[in-house]
Amino acid sequence: MKDLTHTLLHQLETQPLQQTQIEDLRNVLRYHEAQYYVHNNTIIDDYTFDNLYKQLEILEQQYPQLITPSSPTQRVANGLNAGFETVAHLVPMLSLANSYNPADLQDWDRKCRINKEPISYCVEPKYDGASISLLYENDVLIRATTRGNGVAGDDITVNAKQIASIPLHAAFSQYGLHTVEIRGEIIMTKAQFAAYNLQLQAQGMATVANPRNTASGTLRIKDPSEVKRRKLSAFFYHLSYKQYKTDKTPTIFTHAEELNMLCKLGICSPYDDKKVCANIEEVVTYINQFELQRDNLPYEIDGMVVKVNNLAQQEQLGMTSHHPRWAIAYKYKARQATTTLTGVEFQVGRTGAVTPVAKLTPVIVGGVTVSSISIHNEEYIKEKNLMIGDTVIIERAGDVIPQIVSSVIAARKGNEVAIIFPTTCPVCNAALQKEADEAVWRCVNYNCKEQIVGRIIHFISKDALDIAGFGEANVLRFYEQGYLNNITDVYTLPYDKLRNLDGLGTKSIDKLQTAIESSKQQPLHRVIYGLGIRFVGEGTAKILAQQLTHLLQLQHYTSEQLQQLSDVGPKVADSIVSYFNNPQHIALLTKLEQLGLQLTNTLKSEASGGALSGKTFLFTGTLLQLKRADAEAMAEAKGAKILSGVSSKLNYLIVGDDAGSKLEKAKKLATINILTEAEFITLING
Ligand code: IVH
Repeated sequence: MKDLTHTLLHQLETQPLQQTQIEDLRNVLRYHEAQYYVHNNTIIDDYTFDNLYKQLEILEQQYPQLITPSSPTQRVANGLNAGFETVAHLVPMLSLANSYNPADLQDWDRKCRINKEPISYCVEPKYDGASISLLYENDVLIRATTRGNGVAGDDITVNAKQIASIPLHAAFSQYGLHTVEIRGEIIMTKAQFAAYNLQLQAQGMATVANPRNTASGTLRIKDPSEVKRRKLSAFFYHLSYKQYKTDKTPTIFTHAEELNMLCKLGICSPYDDKKVCANIEEVVTYINQFELQRDNLPYEIDGMVVKVNNLAQQEQLGMTSHHPRWAIAYKYKARQATTTLTGVEFQVGRTGAVTPVAKLTPVIVGGVTVSSISIHNEEYIKEKNLMIGDTVIIERAGDVIPQIVSSVIAARKGNEVAIIFPTTCPVCNAALQKEADEAVWRCVNYNCKEQIVGRIIHFISKDALDIAGFGEANVLRFYEQGYLNNITDVYTLPYDKLRNLDGLGTKSIDKLQTAIESSKQQPLHRVIYGLGIRFVGEGTAKILAQQLTHLLQLQHYTSEQLQQLSDVGPKVADSIVSYFNNPQHIALLTKLEQLGLQLTNTLKSEASGGALSGKTFLFTGTLLQLKRADAEAMAEAKGAKILSGVSSKLNYLIVGDDAGSKLEKAKKLATINILTEAEFITLING
């Protein structure tokens, strides 16, 4: 497949790909998707991958009759799911029997060896996620289903196609298989869970409690583009149904071989983490060894699963109505502790969201002292039936934020106090409000101290205006001194007075002044993000900025127009419209511009009248100093257009190392300026 990649790339240097190459192109893209998502082994850079993907899109536009459901382009999410149909599984999705100690495993081993044959076992992680089954027919993914009641589940095919590590095409036919149903687990990695919670926080939304529920909830959301944004992962560990082509017979006889086959077909399986053990003693040793690595894994597991390795022996053992007899789960002990819930504090965020935080008698869980825990929202408190004075069980799963598992109702003495959610803001006393589709109560007083301070802290933060040397403590201090009431005040601070504040000498204030002044040159997308418009994260801010020449143009956009932009759903669009319909916000933006901030898209306006306006560029070979994408962006920022091939329309060919046919072709056309990378940089710098 590497050779085929090179052939296609080489051809692309001189001419577009042909319709007869469409399947080659798809196979190359599938191969690189699997290298990236399944094998952690990236072979080509994003730029090259995107270029090949674009070629496929172009060919499919030209020849729509050649589009197939398993083409890599067919992941694209269009519109909302109407609802999920219930579909029967080909084979009921059974659960597993549990074991908790070596003695349980030894009992199970004795039952497996009833006819005295030796048995080897395959041991693998028990992923803590949401169960799913996929149906492939003729190598094409045709259905994805949740577990449901085990007999039938929800058809979530559209959502499953948004999960990058689920291939739309897997060559089971290489193994003689025509129809295959595979079972696995959808998970959210620890890193993605942390990133998702940060994103929710930045958008002023309630955070989520654990990766398992988030993964499972995500599978059922109606907006497939939101599923894509949440970047779920998937592991598959069982072939529940296999139908061979008429002239084929099995070539695989053990569970471990099946896991290897899945991996080879580009489907994540416990490939590296499994171990085949010759007896139950080896199983126990591996389970104990693996537990030591639990915190270092990129995802949550709640134990290990032990399976009889030989498929014929599995069949002999069969199943009960609840679980297979040939497999058993070994549950690791959750890192739990018991403590007392001593009180609840209500914290107000920059969007006014009120988050209840439980105060606890400090307790050590999994090596970390826990003294307070977010209890999310009012519904969560009701669901968990929490009261002040309760004995509560705390759990820390891996490096995930600790959470309350439950209160111990039996330990109540009768003097516990109900947690009353406030009806007014604990900071400014304004009434709290809750929107119909939200779990969060909000203080709607725009001038609430916590919101003012929160908005300013967000505005100066690293990913927004990035004003070094400001810091949260100074924001609070300047606010309390009456110097800082709004983000516009950042640019009118009375520096002379600040120099006299305790601990803030001339030097640090001069530095701060320089940082504040230079922040006026920050590009538009940072300003947009810094405004803290609800649901507008950094990604959306960039998409909006690209669209505009001036920020105030957003006043004239409708929600429908905004939804045409990639990654902007109805919720985000409505929030942007409501922000720009508020005259207070328009006044604030006008003032920011008067104070010298960039509300124009400097990159874009420079481009239209830029020094290279109307000129065409093409890069070939390997650039040594610049990344190809950056070099192109630099040229575009000066008004240039990037072409994809050498023709008489081309003005400049920039030649890196190992340039090939493009250079040869350009040499024959006298009108093309051929520049080295260094010459290009000089040209850009004017
Ligand atoms: S085997 C008939 N293997 O754990 C095959 N299950 O508590 C049964 N699970 O319902 C499943 N990791 O959703 C199997 N490596 C693994 C697993 C695994 C997680 C889940 C699965 C199952 C649940 C039982």
